[in-house]
Amino acid sequence: MITPPDYISSIKPYVPGKPIEELEREIGIRDSIKLASNENPIGPSIMAIKAVLESLMSPDPSNSINRYPDGSAYYIKKALSEKLSVREDEIILGNGSNELIDIAARTFLKPWDEAVVANPSFIIYAMSVQAMGGMPIQVPLKNYTHDLDAMADAVTSKTKMLFIANPNNPTGTINKKDEFDRLMDRIPDGILVVADEAYYEYVTDQEYADSMKHFRTGRDILILRTFSKIYGLAGLRIGYGIARQDIISEMNKLRPPFNTNSLAQKAALYALKDDDHLRCSREINEQGKRYLYRELDSIGLKYVSTEANFIYIPLERDSNVFYNTLLKHGVIVRPVGPKEIRVTIGLPKENKRFVEALKAVISE
Ligand SMILES: Cc1ncc(COP(=O)(O)O)c(C=O)c1O
Repeated sequence: MITPPDYISSIKPYVPGKPIEELEREIGIRDSIKLASNENPIGPSIMAIKAVLESLMSPDPSNSINRYPDGSAYYIKKALSEKLSVREDEIILGNGSNELIDIAARTFLKPWDEAVVANPSFIIYAMSVQAMGGMPIQVPLKNYTHDLDAMADAVTSKTKMLFIANPNNPTGTINKKDEFDRLMDRIPDGILVVADEAYYEYVTDQEYADSMKHFRTGRDILILRTFSKIYGLAGLRIGYGIARQDIISEMNKLRPPFNTNSLAQKAALYALKDDDHLRCSREINEQGKRYLYRELDSIGLKYVSTEANFIYIPLERDSNVFYNTLLKHGVIVRPVGPKEIRVTIGLPKENKRFVEALKAVISE
């Protein structure tokens, strides 16, 4: 019987949520709301939707989905290059930023290499490291935030990568300029720092770390961003990375040639142009955040202040039981620890529904 290496069979699989229709059927409810995956509740830019529809309806067979996509992602790279003032050969596109995490680990790790990650943080870092036979070195959060000093302390001669989710998923906290700069001062050359900024566009704190500064000074840093969150394109799967040209060209060797599809590239291109959609998404998130803070305060539930589009709520009870009871009220959140849940900030009516369900569950 074929079996994978131990370092593969010991990976704890990522458990995706069930399709909403299935869940509803199983528990006999309707009109449930999903606040579990940190998607943009208003959806994507209308400009992006139109561009996708036009592509699909195009009578021009040279430009249709019977063709492979542009493997070099020429137009979206050009647009990103102009927007971010980086060269096109300093950008890599991924099938979601998730794929870029994986490609980075495959490019730079060999078995027994170490990669420093925070705990709890985005689970895919540790999984990608383990898939290479590498060793994820888990450093606990401090005040729900990456403890960058402790992460720098965890670096050894075997360390090849260090992952920072900034803002962090699941806690929504950020690392600030000073501590990030101090970390970069302490990390020796030859270790790739991955600054995962999936929620970058939501951050309002002026002290937010400036990862681009370290890219511009030529450091070993890979900055990851995505179209899945504020741009509302999670279903199309497209994200990007920024790094020195030599880092990008090594990663490109492992990137499948057609990893981002033509509709995703088109949608991303138009999403980038739509500043109104971005502004509106931010505003809805800020309003929802303020509303939820007020309600959580009045219920007396603890929560962690967020710089992203979700809120981490440490409970004093079993999070799976809590999740299942909320589910019966038609509200889907994400249990992210034994006693912790994470809720995505939704539309005003969804937030209200969450609060009502929360109150009902607490009083049950
Ligand atoms: C911190 C973080 N990084 C990366 C991702 C992956 O996003 P995507 O692959 O959709 O770009 C997520 C998704 O939830 C995330 O929370």
